[in-house]
Amino acid sequence: MMPEGVDENFHETVLLKEAVEYILPAPGKLIVDGTLGGGGHSKAFLDAGATVIGLDQDPDALGYATKRIGVAEGRFRAVYANFSELDPVLDRLDIGPIGGGFLDLGVSSWQIDTPLRGFSFMREGPLDMRMNSRGATTAADLVNNASEGQLENIFRNFGEEPAARRIAARIVGERENKRFETTLDLARAVESVVPRHGKTHPATRVFQALRIAVNRELEALNEALEQFALRLAPGARFGVITFHSLEDRIVKNFFKTRSAEWIDRPEWPAARPNPARIFKLVKSKPVVASDEEQQRNPRSRSAKLRVVEKL
Ligand SMILES: C[S@@+](CC[C@H](N)C(=O)[O-])C[C@H]1O[C@@H](n2cnc3c(N)ncnc32)[C@H](O)[C@@H]1O
Repeated sequence: MMPEGVDENFHETVLLKEAVEYILPAPGKLIVDGTLGGGGHSKAFLDAGATVIGLDQDPDALGYATKRIGVAEGRFRAVYANFSELDPVLDRLDIGPIGGGFLDLGVSSWQIDTPLRGFSFMREGPLDMRMNSRGATTAADLVNNASEGQLENIFRNFGEEPAARRIAARIVGERENKRFETTLDLARAVESVVPRHGKTHPATRVFQALRIAVNRELEALNEALEQFALRLAPGARFGVITFHSLEDRIVKNFFKTRSAEWIDRPEWPAARPNPARIFKLVKSKPVVASDEEQQRNPRSRSAKLRVVEKL
């Protein structure tokens, strides 16, 4: 038997028990899962009796999760949408306040492991990286057309890559002779600038950066946080699982600025009540995977779940 949360075909769900424990799915509650993926979290929310609307911008994920979950007594609905379109999606379905919200950010194992999607520097595939295969811009478009300065900014801002400038220069030099077509073309170019040492592949940060840029991941996250915050009913929980420091920082600050009771400034004589307060933090520290889960699923090692409750 597969261990809990494991789906050998599509995606191994992280922090499954913890998500249920903190989001509090229950009969009569409508939970919006903005990152349906393989449906692991959604299925657990449904098993606890909740109603679930699952969004995903990847038609492959929608197809897989819909088949896995089925109709779930009419309590499940899958919608092809970016989670930054939460408001129009719920308006279209005539839904007002929701009883819970959830995001498990990033890509699924299926996306990473399918060479055609172009996410992996370990597998030869087209330099694509679009989560939404109908999206306009691919990684190849950026690598072949962005200016040297733009590439440097992408690698620095979205990959925190120390060699951003040298890698951008190398790419621009190489593409004068030949377009970058595949993941391995790019991985080799990065490796010629940053040699391998240690366990992390030298192209890790560059691939992360391009993926974030191609999918406008940080903009989508910011937009979604605002919309979820307004949609949650009083007492509803909202949880977000992040996998790297850039997205975790955004979630942490968003939750912090909207849950602080007081704000203070050096020029003020005393602290004032925070007018932006709409949440209480359910836990001040992020929830992380157990040792057992980290052993079993290396991807869970970087997962952080932050949870708030609407006042
Ligand atoms: C880590 S997986 C989710 C896995 C899921 N929780 C499970 O247990 O099976 C992330 C999913 O979110 C989707 N996704 C990422 N960003 C998105 C966005 N802005 N809008 C909609 N879906 C998004 C990806 O296509 C992917 O299928």
